[in-house]
Amino acid sequence: MSEKGFDRVKEIISGYKRDEKLLLHCLKDIQHEVGYLPKEALKMVASHLGLPLSKVYSVASFYRALSLEAGAKDVVHVCTGTSCHCRGAKRVLEELLALQEKGKDITIKTVNCMGTCALAPVVVVGNRYFGPTNPGEVGKILERSTQDGSEKQG
Ligand code: FES
Repeated sequence: MSEKGFDRVKEIISGYKRDEKLLLHCLKDIQHEVGYLPKEALKMVASHLGLPLSKVYSVASFYRALSLEAGAKDVVHVCTGTSCHCRGAKRVLEELLALQEKGKDITIKTVNCMGTCALAPVVVVGNRYFGPTNPGEVGKILERSTQDGSEKQG
């Protein structure tokens, strides 16, 4: 972590009370500012909130919106199962690929069925399901999802 990043992390952490319930918010703030959660930052958070490092680490690694590695991209799952395919998943996927081509830093993965066919075509960012989606709104979905953060499943 750069010196500037270190100072920024210190500043963010100092804005939090010593309260375990604030752990996720604190980690999200650091993620938002630095782009990932460096190990030093996890140690600083653990010390500030009075938590074991293992607890901080397990929360940091549990949420998809949080990353322990620099440069990790957002993973966007596009369902191309039968229902989603019939309702336009291909065009949604093409739009996502076009956004990626234009520089949107995402990893796109296709899946066969998310089990939510009533929402077809479905796009999942983190554990947030969006549907029915259309090519015109996927850009907004990405913006919203990367700002909010979301939980991992299973
Ligand atoms: S086919 Fe897409 S959710 Fe089932």
